[in-house]
Amino acid sequence: PLSAMVQEYAIRQELGSLHGIPLYKSFIEGWPQVKAFQACPDDLLISTYPKSGTTWLSEIMDMIYHNGDVEKCRRDAIYNRVPFLEVKISTEPSGIEQLENTPSPRLVKTHLPVQLLPTSFWEKDCKIIYMARNPKDVVISYYYFHQMAKINPDPGTKAEFLENFMAGKVAYGSWYDHVCGWWEKKQEKKILYLFYEDMKKDPRQEVQKILQFLDKELAEETVERILHHTSFQEMKKNPAANYETVLPTLMDHSISPFLRKGISGDWKNHFTVAQNERFNQHYKERMAGSDLHFQME
Ligand code: A3P
Repeated sequence: PLSAMVQEYAIRQELGSLHGIPLYKSFIEGWPQVKAFQACPDDLLISTYPKSGTTWLSEIMDMIYHNGDVEKCRRDAIYNRVPFLEVKISTEPSGIEQLENTPSPRLVKTHLPVQLLPTSFWEKDCKIIYMARNPKDVVISYYYFHQMAKINPDPGTKAEFLENFMAGKVAYGSWYDHVCGWWEKKQEKKILYLFYEDMKKDPRQEVQKILQFLDKELAEETVERILHHTSFQEMKKNPAANYETVLPTLMDHSISPFLRKGISGDWKNHFTVAQNERFNQHYKERMAGSDLHFQME
């Protein structure tokens, strides 16, 4: 009956629309509770467009919050240690329910576009860390995620998925609107805006940025341990970080593992020359006038 319920509510359904943003129907059902969520001033929000390094940043943050104690960070799966604000899948406790049972100071994950963030986060002046990743790697990562995670609609071919992504017809809508919306918000609110590509190139420097943002100091050897524990290789074999504990009806890692490649520039192995040219043109149009820039590798 459990798997039947999962099937009924969460398998390969068409997306619904939440204030114009395409989203999983079960999440939309839970929206009233999310909208009314009461944040605590010491909540820290991890915000991303999907497939931008959310899990990586979450593991880093949990390690920082536990002063580099690896054993404490194995206490539960990452999706329970850092509850996913708007998640609602019939068989599981909702993100809101999980957050109610999480002691402060809490780490909270969201993929919501900036205009949909529950207002309480702004009212309580919560710290927010946003992580962005270049759209070419995001779309490839998202494509493989659609294949393995059955909450998503069938992605179709890579070419079809690329079109849908560019048109914003995927869960959480337009990547362009998402990264630009959060970038603009940075002018008025306390947001640390990070990039996946920077984190790949110099994770130590990015962790230092986070520590500074938190007004926190850690010993050099603790930072070292955090960097080691949150490397792609370590996270990939860590059952508390690699999502292998999710019900197989929801995620099939044999199709594509959740921690798939973990590099920048993998899009080059997937885009045709023509697709790349079209994407570049579209990117130029959509990002014109913005001072937000991405490293594509
Ligand atoms: P790929 O599919 O390109 O490998 P999210 O957590 O937002 O869903 O993002 C998932 C992407 O982040 C996947 O990208 C995954 O491999 C990558 N990732 C997760 N942990 C990582 C790590 N420690 N280092 C680098 N990339 C990581």
